[in-house]
Amino acid sequence: MTNNTLLLLPGDGIGQEIARAATQVIDALNQSQRTAIEVRTADFGGTAYDRTGSPLPPATLDAAMDADAVLMGAVGGPQWDDVPRALRPEAGLLGLRKAMDVFANLRPAVCFPALAASSSLKQELVEGLDLMIVRELTAGVYFGTPRGHDPENNRVIDTQSYTQAEIERVARVAFDLARARGGKLHSVEKANVMETGAFWRKVVTDLHAKEGAGIELHHMYADNCAMQLVRAPKQFDVIVTDNLFGDLLSDCAAMLTGSLGMLPSASLSSPDPTTGRRRALYEPVHGSAPDIAGQDKANPCAMLASLSMALRYSFAGADAADVLDGAIARVLADNVRTQDIANDASTVVGCTAMTQHIIAQL
Ligand code: IPM
Ligand code: MG
Repeated sequence: MTNNTLLLLPGDGIGQEIARAATQVIDALNQSQRTAIEVRTADFGGTAYDRTGSPLPPATLDAAMDADAVLMGAVGGPQWDDVPRALRPEAGLLGLRKAMDVFANLRPAVCFPALAASSSLKQELVEGLDLMIVRELTAGVYFGTPRGHDPENNRVIDTQSYTQAEIERVARVAFDLARARGGKLHSVEKANVMETGAFWRKVVTDLHAKEGAGIELHHMYADNCAMQLVRAPKQFDVIVTDNLFGDLLSDCAAMLTGSLGMLPSASLSSPDPTTGRRRALYEPVHGSAPDIAGQDKANPCAMLASLSMALRYSFAGADAADVLDGAIARVLADNVRTQDIANDASTVVGCTAMTQHIIAQL
């Protein structure tokens, strides 16, 4: 395997601890020659703001554009609540996603058999759950203009906006995934209320007629989708939706799996026309968890599963990814758990020990 560069952005809060876990796992994979990954790290988020005055310093952005893949821990925390919006840790993350143009955010929700009892839903509803949310990540209300305070009229504006091309490119990714999985796709919006929703539905319908052979397409309103996710989540295979609905629905889907601490994500750009390479940003779905940061309590699984997605999609290492996924599953099956996913019979461990158990299973 050729040398591959991974830029690690620990970020804030528990991001630091889970990034250490990722480094240790990569070291172990490199030592056993399953991978040959060169890890670089850079400041990001609130930590970067404190050091440099920017949550996304130019050197970090350059390193991200240069790397074969970026793996991010988490950003944000109450200590940056009063920082101007454009300099907040979250703005650094949005800026990075936009600059890398990683418009397709893949958020799988897979229920590990060992965790089916930890879900807030009845075990039979989530056992075997395996769904994929494809969230549009670089447009919509997160980025639309005009936005901000309009002092003349004393009102505040956010703008939801989508072009046909922005919808089509994320729908194509969802079509490909649906084809590679169970063949079923739900496109989710609010076509009953929002102009962008009606347009989204039309664009996806038209594209499906042209390019969607073999895919069973359903349209669903976002509020109904939230309800269906907690009523009967196994009806879903692939869901494609906009930036804001995808943010909400993916947190909801994450909790079905037993813990927000379990869910990875991958964000991909279009393939480069000459190299065929997609820029890629991998991140756990959970946040920086300031309440437990620095206490060695964080669950490293979502971060390590994000690393596994990086191996699979960016480093052409499906074997190494399978090995890592298997190691995580075995540790969970042995009932070694961090507190967030523990039950009465679990051996409760911290982030460091959980990582060591996973490494031992590689
Ligand atoms: C996520 C997070 C981010 C988002 C925040 C931290 C900007 O909630 O990745 O789901 O809203 O996209
Ligand atoms: Mg979110």
